[in-house]
Amino acid sequence: DVPDLLDRFGRVARDLRVSITEKCSLRCTYCMPEEGLPAIPREQLLTTAEIVRLVGVATGLLGVQEVRFTGGEPLMRRDLEDIIAGCRRIAPGVPLALTSNAVGLAHRAQDLRDAGLTRVNISLDTVDRDHFARLTRRDRLDSVLAGIRAAKTVGFTRVKVNAVLMPETLDGAADLLQWCLDEGVELRFIEEMPLDADHEWARANMVTAQRLLEVLGARFTLTETPREDPSAPAERWSVDAGPATVGIIASVTRSFCSDCDRTRLTAEGTVRSCLFSDRETDLRAAVRGGATDDELAALWRGAMWNKWAGHGIDAADFVPPERSMGAIGG
Ligand code: GTP
Ligand code: 5AD
Ligand code: SF4
Repeated sequence: DVPDLLDRFGRVARDLRVSITEKCSLRCTYCMPEEGLPAIPREQLLTTAEIVRLVGVATGLLGVQEVRFTGGEPLMRRDLEDIIAGCRRIAPGVPLALTSNAVGLAHRAQDLRDAGLTRVNISLDTVDRDHFARLTRRDRLDSVLAGIRAAKTVGFTRVKVNAVLMPETLDGAADLLQWCLDEGVELRFIEEMPLDADHEWARANMVTAQRLLEVLGARFTLTETPREDPSAPAERWSVDAGPATVGIIASVTRSFCSDCDRTRLTAEGTVRSCLFSDRETDLRAAVRGGATDDELAALWRGAMWNKWAGHGIDAADFVPPERSMGAIGG
């Protein structure tokens, strides 16, 4: 019996990302179409109990050491607190994290903390109200900023901000960094990946990590710091001699697939071995068909064993996946 989620390239998945909904309160252009994603029929969504059971299998039988909930926007599910509480019970020592846009988080941060959530990463691309409204197609900046401030006060072990690099918000990157420095939260910029629902991503228009460093360099002194964990996607730079840092996740220009330690579960209960691979393994049918925990673990291992080497975004024959980011889980 092999305990780990191993693949043919020798990588071991220890980080599980669970998408729990396709719904979202925003419509970021690099992720969602204007009208939102097609709704997943209710009976096709994993229930609270099914999510908890699969997290139990992953952490109990498959060596998963950290679980992150994503979407869509996880706060769109009213049972998020119950999901967290259930996972906390089934996996007492495992860090439970959330990736959220923070709309409405201010009202739920305390309950989520009490349910056992360990930390949150919040997506915020700009602190300019007009740019925010244009990029997300919603005027909710105040709610997001309130959500970040609430997250800081309820005792999560850390709050990070993620910003996807876009041409429209690049001019505001230094202001966003200054805001995060003032608030004491860690900021990471992310290169845009070809996962937008509108399939408008183009390599030539993409803002690269290199370009961002030039822009930030005009206002701050940045010094590269050594990477602590080789599977962490972010490279970190200290700002004005530290201790504050800014991170860059250069998913496209400096791909980190060879160190990937992720496995994903979609909201419909399929295992996805990579963001970019449309080959999925259906665990929901197995769960509802009466499979034992060992049988579920065997299916999951098989799905990961077949994981490919990486996304190859820079290769000439690259084809983006069917599902957009909001339908996979960021
Ligand atoms: P920490 O545990 O806080 O380091 O979180 P994380 O970086 O694993 O999670 P987060 O949800 O904050 O992810 C940050 C960004 O990294 C995402 O928004 C994606 O753009 C990117 N990302 C996440 N997973 C993958 C992946 O499997 N492959 C690639 N290429 N990029 C990913
Ligand atoms: N490229 C990179 N990151 C993306 N995200 C959403 N779409 C993309 C994309 N096309 C990010 C969000 C959030 C996380 C869920 O994924 O900004 O931080
Ligand atoms: Fe919603 Fe996140 Fe996609 Fe923006 S990136 S539309 S906040 S799921």
